[in-house]
Amino acid sequence: MSDRNFCEIPIKIIKLYGKSFPFAIYLKLSGGKAVKLTNENEDLVEIFSRYEKKGVTGVYVLKDDFAKFIKDIKNKSKKALLDPSTLEEDKVKILADTYRVAKEGLKNFGIKPETIKLAKVVNESALNTIEETPNVYKFLEQFKDKCGKELYTIMLINFVISGMVDTFEWSSPALKEKITIGSLLCDVLLDENDFNELRENIETPEHLSMKAKNHPMDTYEKFSNSTGALSKETLEIIKFHHEKPCGGGFPYSIPGKNISLFPAIRIVADRFVSLLISENFDMNKRNNIIKTLDNEFQVANFKTAFSSLKTMLG
Ligand SMILES: [Fe+2]
Repeated sequence: MSDRNFCEIPIKIIKLYGKSFPFAIYLKLSGGKAVKLTNENEDLVEIFSRYEKKGVTGVYVLKDDFAKFIKDIKNKSKKALLDPSTLEEDKVKILADTYRVAKEGLKNFGIKPETIKLAKVVNESALNTIEETPNVYKFLEQFKDKCGKELYTIMLINFVISGMVDTFEWSSPALKEKITIGSLLCDVLLDENDFNELRENIETPEHLSMKAKNHPMDTYEKFSNSTGALSKETLEIIKFHHEKPCGGGFPYSIPGKNISLFPAIRIVADRFVSLLISENFDMNKRNNIIKTLDNEFQVANFKTAFSSLKTMLG
């Protein structure tokens, strides 16, 4: 079985289809072999309950089918995420699985109308879900393990970005989407291990692998020929999201004064979230965090972005 021919799909996502799934499903075996689990439109309930009990969480479909599946799953996920009767816990699980599918799609097919639409559904649903909750930090703490560290971190960063953008008079839903979708796509080509490596060494980039160190450049290059599907603001965020005011960021290490406002907003939000997580959301440490950031973000657009964070925090 060649990985080039298959894409992974979480079982929970397949279950959104109910009893029948419109594509053939495969299971990977050791030694690179694949077995066909089901044919199109076969009853899945019993088959997958059995496989889930065995600890299987993801199965595979052929790449050609996956492209059609992405289109289909966008509507199914959106419906489940917008349904008021869907439990909060289930929403988080569906969101996490839909994010995995969007990542797989973006990795395999790049920015196509259907992959970007699916990423936008994840982006919008993540923001809505988090904005509806009375206590964001408690909510994330409760669902941390269910949504995974990566989505958890991105949801928190985008929640902070959304609040920061709202403090500007130029704020609009369209611009907010450009900024938050850029933020969502920043690390989308990294797998879970790369992501964890990145977060652990974020302040010591000299310890990063080339893949982690170059991901802003690689992601920008992969997505920049998306023929207008992504705005220049979105692409700029992806390209510069690990630069620093002191010029010591990566991979470009360009001077902070040359970073425009939208990437600066992402960078400030990311740094704030990293410090909040490292302080276990202890709000008594908030003043210390602000002091640290105040020393860091004194240059050009970083200063403006940091002011918006302070305004947002009140
Ligand atoms: Fe990144």
